Amino acid sequence: SRKIIIDTDPGQDDAVAILLALASPAELNVLAIVAVAGNVGLHHNANNALKIVELSGRTDVPVYAGSVRPMRRQLVTAEHVHGETGLNGPTLPEPEIKLQAQHGVDYIIDALMTAEARTITLCTLGPLTNIALALVRQPAIAERIAEIVMMGGAYFEGGNITPSAEFNIYVDPDAADVVLRSGVPITMMPLDVTHQILTTRDRLDAIAALGNNTGTAVAQMLEFSERFDLAKYGSLGAPLHDPTVIAYLLRPDLFDGRLCNVSIETASELTVGATVADYWHVSGKARNVNFIRNGNAEGFYALLNERLARLP
Ligand code: BDR
Ligand code: CA
Repeated sequence: SRKIIIDTDPGQDDAVAILLALASPAELNVLAIVAVAGNVGLHHNANNALKIVELSGRTDVPVYAGSVRPMRRQLVTAEHVHGETGLNGPTLPEPEIKLQAQHGVDYIIDALMTAEARTITLCTLGPLTNIALALVRQPAIAERIAEIVMMGGAYFEGGNITPSAEFNIYVDPDAADVVLRSGVPITMMPLDVTHQILTTRDRLDAIAALGNNTGTAVAQMLEFSERFDLAKYGSLGAPLHDPTVIAYLLRPDLFDGRLCNVSIETASELTVGATVADYWHVSGKARNVNFIRNGNAEGFYALLNERLARLP
């Protein structure tokens, strides 16, 4: 099965993505989970990652803590979406397992330098700080990463934290810039696709009805996080962002996109964090990103439910 490292700031939707991956051992070998500052501070995000690993029963998967702040900017967080702890909704026990002692960025470098080249895929669900720092510290890893599949960015759909930027890229645009220029093959799941993967009432009820602990916790997480989005978007459900990364690895046929140049705005106050997608190749710049624009929501939720039902 495919080796992946999940870099994340959990986060309810991050939690669902992690659970989807841990429920799919035939396809995905989760080598580790690395936390990054983003939705809330690193301390909460790392603790949430431990809680999710325990919920899934997969305490064999190590959890590392990475960067406490973006490369150059002040950290911007989103407690208004995710709650004070970043994972409000379910009441999960405080974890018994502990974080690994090694820094998450050092772990990423070591894992890539010691494994056979191009065998590890990085799945990023938060700001790209850890990945960019690893690339800056050890540039040789660029040629050793199989692929980066990231949740981040927005183009045709507009931004969710500013009119032009999506949260993960906005929090650390300098890191996103490093990653997009690295030459590593990248697939991007922007808001353009995640805004099609809505948690409608029927879909939430189906998850709650799975009857296992995981299903109950996931339903509570999504009920909590969608309260903010429903008011914001006036839609029938809230977008479910991060699990699209894992769903893409499991079922790429559920998505379609286009290989094009994507560049990051790092300077302009008005549009910082914008992911400018050259969909029509007018710039002639190298096509560095598989920019996903459409997803099959019914197929996605069928997959998610089938997998969550396998967990405790
Ligand atoms: C992204 O921002 C976070 O709040 C979510 O977890 C997701 O990764 C969506 O813009
Ligand atoms: Ca996230």
